[in-house]
Amino acid sequence: MNTDKRRILVTSALPYANGPIHIGHVLEYIQTDIWVRFQRLQGHECIYVCADDAHGTPIMLKAEADGVTPEELIERIEAEHRADFRDFHISLDNFYTTHSEENRQCSEYIYQQNKAKGHIARRVIEQAYDPVKEMFLPDRYIRGECPVCGTPDQYGDSCENCGSTYSPTDLKNAVSAVSGATPIAKESEHFFFRLGDFEEMLKVWTRGEHIQQQVSNKLQEWFDAGLQDWDISRDAPYFGFEIPEENDKYFYVWLDAPIGYMASFKNLCARTDLEFDDFWNEDSPNELIHFIGKDILYFHTLFWPAMLDGAGFRKPSAVYAHGFLTVNGQKMSKSRGTFITARTYLDHLNPEYLRYYLAAKLNNRVEDLDLNFDDFVARVNSDLIGKVVNIASRTAGFITKRFDGRLSAHLMNPQMYQDFVDAGGSIASWYERREYSRAMREIMALADHANQFIAENKPWEIAKSVDAQASDESKALLDICSLSLNLFRVLVTYLSPVLPVTAKRVETFLNCPISAPGSWQALNKPLLNHSINPYQHLMKRVDKQDINDMIEDSKHQNEPGASATADSTENTTITIDEFAKVDLRVARVIEAQHVDGADKLLRLTLDVGDHQRTVFAGIKGAYEPEQLAGKLVVVVANLAPRKMRFGVSEGMVLAAGPGGTDIWLLSPDDGAQPGMKVS
Ligand code: MSP
Ligand code: ZN
Repeated sequence: MNTDKRRILVTSALPYANGPIHIGHVLEYIQTDIWVRFQRLQGHECIYVCADDAHGTPIMLKAEADGVTPEELIERIEAEHRADFRDFHISLDNFYTTHSEENRQCSEYIYQQNKAKGHIARRVIEQAYDPVKEMFLPDRYIRGECPVCGTPDQYGDSCENCGSTYSPTDLKNAVSAVSGATPIAKESEHFFFRLGDFEEMLKVWTRGEHIQQQVSNKLQEWFDAGLQDWDISRDAPYFGFEIPEENDKYFYVWLDAPIGYMASFKNLCARTDLEFDDFWNEDSPNELIHFIGKDILYFHTLFWPAMLDGAGFRKPSAVYAHGFLTVNGQKMSKSRGTFITARTYLDHLNPEYLRYYLAAKLNNRVEDLDLNFDDFVARVNSDLIGKVVNIASRTAGFITKRFDGRLSAHLMNPQMYQDFVDAGGSIASWYERREYSRAMREIMALADHANQFIAENKPWEIAKSVDAQASDESKALLDICSLSLNLFRVLVTYLSPVLPVTAKRVETFLNCPISAPGSWQALNKPLLNHSINPYQHLMKRVDKQDINDMIEDSKHQNEPGASATADSTENTTITIDEFAKVDLRVARVIEAQHVDGADKLLRLTLDVGDHQRTVFAGIKGAYEPEQLAGKLVVVVANLAPRKMRFGVSEGMVLAAGPGGTDIWLLSPDDGAQPGMKVS
């Protein structure tokens, strides 16, 4: 399959830096990551970049509500996002931010080039203005009664009750969601990108292979409706880049956001031997591929290619849009506990479960995808544990115990092995076309064959009837288990874009490359007369209780969004009575231990004065277990026990810092004694 080596630059949409990554976002990053890992496995060069989308009004207002600068806010969120990406095993080459020098330069350049060619218009417009807060109000920050049905407290652009769309000036009794003041109309000069100048180019571009069929149809509607000028400027106060040669004018966040793809790549070039021009020159022969959600198609299939074209850069090779994630058939909701952040998921469940579940359902169309938890449990347990892991767990022990860890020198059924290898062609083409569900179905059908082979040959019965001597039966036992493990190797190689951690473990177990570039092609040669290592448990079954705990946990978290800015005073202060409810105690660490399978957690045994407790703390990046024994720490002693993936955590240890390696446990002076109240 890999005859010519492709050079591909891949991106996922940039998450906003004002809230946590949730499992809807995760769908996109997993979809992209599987594709990227697949390309690398095939031996292609595939570079994957992303960044935080750090500018705009919501971020400015959220920072203000939190009492921090926007820079402080986006730095904190960036650290959280990075940790989420890492822990879901998203194999980014660079995760950057749009609030960077590279992005400023690229944005200014693209703007100047378009301006020089006459693609920027300026005109005065009238907009809603908050006279108290002294700022222009984006539609979502104006609330009022729907002009059509009269429902109160609706957003400035549409009504949640009757679905009408309108302009904010039509709202009755409108108020600013920022200050509560009545907005006034105010004029200001704005800059517009003349999208219509690019109509012919866009029609040609969108007719090519660059987009999905369903999206083409949507684009046709947009062309029919006529391409409007796009307002790319905002007035101060605004958190963003200032427009060069103007006074107090800023680029609208959506102008510099996609340029963030370019800037993240540029930042990567500075520390590698990659060349920027190789991927962005007008005549670049290499691929540029964007994975996005269906809600941001207009920006990626019209504005973005037009901006690039106007500035003399190449256009994307493809834009692939996916649908939205629903949970148990409905939109994610806080009250139902289905607004699940990436972190909450990771506290309870193995990321590879979700990677597999989504892969088993993803196709290349713009369709919504439902995460149904009963289905999730059934599918992960029956496919991953029951079909795949089972092959190794039922056969590996015999090789280790009876044959000194060495596989047979020949295959007892070469045709069966060859059939598995041959299936790789069609599995690869499903991956390539982002039809992961079909790839998973084929892989699981092969796994069924392998299990059937084992069931028919019953190695455990042969093992019972023979001793370790080299009888014919003993040879049969060796051959059955050796073929099974060869088939297992093929299956795990096919699954490695989806299950990178399991693939790594199997690499150690089978003592051969599984996820390295070229491993797919290497399947042509079976493992013969090859030494393997003792089998270690690969993956545990999903427990429905862990899901229930995760949902409970999610109910008790704050849903991010516009409302957080409106009731800022309620969110940032608590009363003394509320504070008094928190029982802070001094504790001494008796023992700290690594937790099997956890990248960040340590299991702490604490002496809290009159008794001991177990607390899981995400401090592994900053502390070695040995450093902790004997140390005094501060714990929240009356936190309700939380069941996590690795056990029950009875409290929380206080620490400072953004996370990762930057964490400092709060450690009282030596005069303190375990059990003392902290006040
Ligand atoms: N910041 C913009 C993107 C700028 S790209 C130059 C943005 N951010 S976002 O945080 O709202 O969304 C990031 C990505 O996650 C988008 O592609 C969006 O479609 C996707 N999703 C957000 N919620 C989602 C679901 N519930 N389901 C699937 N994808 C979802 O848009
Ligand atoms: Zn209405």
